[in-house]
Amino acid sequence: GCAWIHDEFVPISEARIPITDMGFTRSDLTYDVVSVWNGCFFRLDDHLSRLQRGCEKLRLVPPISLDEIRDILITTVALSGLHQAYVEAIVTRGVPEPGVRDPRRVSPQFYAYAIPYVWIASEEDQARGVSLALACDTDRIPARSIDPTVKNFHWGDLTRALFEAYDRGASLPVLTDGTGKITEGPGYNVFAVADGRLYTPATGVLEGITRKSVIELALLNDIEVIVGDVTVELLRVADEIFLTSTAGGVMPASTLDGMPIGTRRPGPVTTWLRDGYWQLHNDKR
Ligand code: PDD
Repeated sequence: GCAWIHDEFVPISEARIPITDMGFTRSDLTYDVVSVWNGCFFRLDDHLSRLQRGCEKLRLVPPISLDEIRDILITTVALSGLHQAYVEAIVTRGVPEPGVRDPRRVSPQFYAYAIPYVWIASEEDQARGVSLALACDTDRIPARSIDPTVKNFHWGDLTRALFEAYDRGASLPVLTDGTGKITEGPGYNVFAVADGRLYTPATGVLEGITRKSVIELALLNDIEVIVGDVTVELLRVADEIFLTSTAGGVMPASTLDGMPIGTRRPGPVTTWLRDGYWQLHNDKR
């Protein structure tokens, strides 16, 4: 992999961030992850816009323009030599002078890196379907204590939910909001298919670019999409459940808390959307 840090490109093993960067000490940052497939970025502008919106919400002014960020990402990938890549862009509050706590007195930093493409679900899970667990431990945390629409390294609840899923013999968790509605998971959005319609939560989630691509694909093909509250009950009776992420695309699930979802095999709507999603990588940059 390759990284951009302090105005230069370096091998990823040599990229060092100062320990007092407030991105690290305060999680005062936003980031975005975009994929490169067969050498092409997928929806880079959508990812850059989301990064910009995150910066605005956190009142972070990146040290360089969005166009410069785009150029750096393109060069980072070129230098990495990767054709299938996971590319991360990070804007942090920066490194304060000793004792400074006022965010206005710190200069934001931009960092980026490219590593080989990441799959959230293993190859086996993708073929058979992921085993999911509804994470209840995190119900006690009132939604996320940060704005879930801003991508942030504040993953305490998401990581806790991952451990809960592992403890219960599942591969991945689905977080709930404490009022019987589901939200998302560590790095992915969640969709249910019921009565031929698609359901995905409207609030309490990151507005994923993969989620958006899937919604567009569905609407183009006259599949009804309901972006609204998704209850745990709906999830339990769904015909199909799938996860969406830049890291893995459309990933089918086969069980929820040990109970089969539909036929326990990746369903027709999921399979069709997954094929359609990967097809988009052939015709679009
Ligand atoms: N994660 N929800 C959360 C909390 C996420 O971190 C992500 C992405 C998603 C899916 O968004 P998108 O479709 O735009 O990738 C939903 C990235 C891939 C990560 O941090 O690795």
